[in-house]
Amino acid sequence: MANDKILDGKEVARSVTERLKHQVQFLKNHRINSKLVVILVGNDPASRIYVRRKGKACEQLSISSETIFLPENIKEKELISKIEELNHDPATNGILVQLPLPPQIDEKKIIELIDPTKDVDCFHPVNIGRLVSGHPYVLPCTPAGILEILKYYRIDTEGKHAVVLGRSNIVGKPMANMLLQKNPSANATVTVVHSRSKHIASLTSDADILIAAIGKAHFVNSEMVKEGSVVIDVGINRVEADTEKGYRLVGDVDFESVLPKVSKITPVPGGVGPMTIAMLMQNTLTAVATQNGILLPQ
Ligand code: GUN
Repeated sequence: MANDKILDGKEVARSVTERLKHQVQFLKNHRINSKLVVILVGNDPASRIYVRRKGKACEQLSISSETIFLPENIKEKELISKIEELNHDPATNGILVQLPLPPQIDEKKIIELIDPTKDVDCFHPVNIGRLVSGHPYVLPCTPAGILEILKYYRIDTEGKHAVVLGRSNIVGKPMANMLLQKNPSANATVTVVHSRSKHIASLTSDADILIAAIGKAHFVNSEMVKEGSVVIDVGINRVEADTEKGYRLVGDVDFESVLPKVSKITPVPGGVGPMTIAMLMQNTLTAVATQNGILLPQ
């Protein structure tokens, strides 16, 4: 996209991938293999696409990967025994259970069962605790990808007012926490806005950096953003459209209306999405290195 306001996630992901290629080569030189196992339960079309992309990213980096497809009606105890098997398999370095899971399965129980050293999503409470206390093992993929975008485009967060719209465990909560950490690539003043917040527009329009992660198509309009602010759009929403597939993907931000007002913005698609997968690859290599007691070159 030929616009100097666009934060191009594909470009940043390519740059991260170049760094990771060196790390993969370093591990190979030490005769260390890397393997990510992804579990997909059921047939959710969006989840199938995400899982396929994760496999492709592994392939591109010569990281072994396996996707285990399990039926929608699988019993919780069968999923538990699969994860226990992978926890004990020395050839499996990373385990990712694609969310959401069907209602008969207790998501929290499954997340807590994954060996924290193989938890490449950073969903396990032990890893969340490490993150919050400022000593992370791996970083949650989407928030980490957002910080990489800001770093790549030299967007300073120190002392800035960052408003996180959304409080999910996958994006909103860890994002807010990472932005307030005491280090030069964070140090922001953070406000979290959610579905029960009052005066949402007045809070978001005070943001120097606005991160929209509420899963509502075109929720953020031009009246909700500050002149000259940076807007990061995490949303991937399907809206009906006159296309071959019958839908198109749009973000949580009304891109066209917000663009003239902001200084920088991530597009959808091509913004945060590619970064999530790049950071998953990074976490997989961190897991491999840690399990082998070796430090990766940075
Ligand atoms: N579902 C939506 N995003 C994610 C993610 O980052 N990891 C997993 N495991 N499931 C998801």
